[in-house]
Amino acid sequence: MNNATLSRGLLIGALVLAGGSAVLADAPPPAGGHPPMPPYMMRPEAPTGDRLKPGGDGKVLFEVHCGYCHLLGGMGTNLLTKQRMMMGETPDKGLLANRTDLTADYVKSVVRMGKNAMPAQTRVDVTDAELDAVAKYLGKAG
Ligand code: HEC
Repeated sequence: MNNATLSRGLLIGALVLAGGSAVLADAPPPAGGHPPMPPYMMRPEAPTGDRLKPGGDGKVLFEVHCGYCHLLGGMGTNLLTKQRMMMGETPDKGLLANRTDLTADYVKSVVRMGKNAMPAQTRVDVTDAELDAVAKYLGKAG
């Protein structure tokens, strides 16, 4: 390597470093001291009252009990997005709430038995009444 090549290399290196620090300097300071939280970390408050009573709001119960894995950014969503895309579907089908092929019975059996990377959810995690509401909400295929 001659001197001209060496100094050109150094110049490029310096430019890359300068460019990199400019990008970092331009990033907005995190609001409230921390970066915005992804949806799977912003679940609604769990409804108060008797968890064994039927008739709860399936969407809210899904977001509370399944959301930390199945909302946007959750590990269940990440795995299922890859699975659905390998089946030729669009990435939005990684979210269970966007699926139209799930039946309530299938949802219930996956929740109680677990499936591959998904751990089984006990009646303490999700009561039967809560699961009924969640399965009705997700089971758009009946
Ligand atoms: C600890 C994380 C976690 C929780 C909590 C969780 N899941 Fe899952 N779920 C997963 C993962 C990961 C998969 C993908 C499993 C695989 O194929 O490896 C999955 C898969 C599923 C599937 C199968 C989808 C398919 O295409 O076959 C259903 C249905 C499901 N979850 C429903 C639920 C419901 C309803 C709840 C809440 C009661 C829930 N899950 C809670 C992680 C979770």
